[in-house]
Amino acid sequence: MFPLRLAGLRFAPDGRTVLAGLDLELSGEGISVVLGPNGAGKTLLLRLLAGLLPAHGGSIFWGNSARPDGRLAMVFQQPMLLRLSVLTNVEFALRPQALSPAERKTRTMEVLERVGLAHRVRDCARLLSGGERQRLALARAWAMRPRLLLLDEPTASLDPTATDAVERIIREIRTEGAKVLMTTHNLGQATRLADDIIFLAEGRVQEHEPAQRFFAHPQSPAARAFMQGELPWRIAFDH
Ligand SMILES: Nc1ncnc2c1ncn2[C@@H]1O[C@H](COP(=O)(O)OP(=O)(O)OP(=O)(O)O)[C@@H](O)[C@H]1O
Ligand SMILES: [Mg+2]
Repeated sequence: MFPLRLAGLRFAPDGRTVLAGLDLELSGEGISVVLGPNGAGKTLLLRLLAGLLPAHGGSIFWGNSARPDGRLAMVFQQPMLLRLSVLTNVEFALRPQALSPAERKTRTMEVLERVGLAHRVRDCARLLSGGERQRLALARAWAMRPRLLLLDEPTASLDPTATDAVERIIREIRTEGAKVLMTTHNLGQATRLADDIIFLAEGRVQEHEPAQRFFAHPQSPAARAFMQGELPWRIAFDH
């Protein structure tokens, strides 16, 4: 399924070009963070990779194949949870996998333990706070043991403690061997988590660099402008 390659990926609804021809190659390791201004197409890119909608042109290659041969999970910015218990929300996601009910239960409890929700298993998922919902959504994705995990702004609207917890979980998932591709508007978070940065603007990948190099010397004028625009915000959040 890796390297994952995008070649000339286009998305132009009603003749309005959003993605003008996206080229990108991703290895199967580490955390790749997609940065870019509002409307750049970050969420769209994740949705195209998840197969949730078709592109209007170009290709996606998963290794040598047109389809991923490993599991893929996506966590949305506003996770969709079933109006059922915390436990059932995770168990339900495991139904397509060939697991016995006992195995399903064990795996569910294990991930809920790891995200700190083991004591809430019987509670209705809809009653959880924003941070708890995000942790449940991550647990649900983690339980599926994905080879590729797509995360869309996983900590938007979370407080610093909840953000820390979610970042810790993302690192653990990466350590266990999943490739993570995520978006964020939190540049502090990008510096903490990213192995590499994909900077998206004007319908194209403007830069794809190791994170340290990107933050030290953004090459493209668009990335420099973006970083300058975001800078006061970054300082406000980091200190
Ligand atoms: N299914 C769709 N049909 C038509 N247009 C879409 C669709 N999905 C996204 N778009 C458009 O594509 C553009 C990029 O949207 P996207 O949500 O990917 O931006 P983003 O980079 O995630 O922005 P933000 O930082 O605000 O989350 C927007 O103009 C949006 O209206
Ligand atoms: Mg988005």
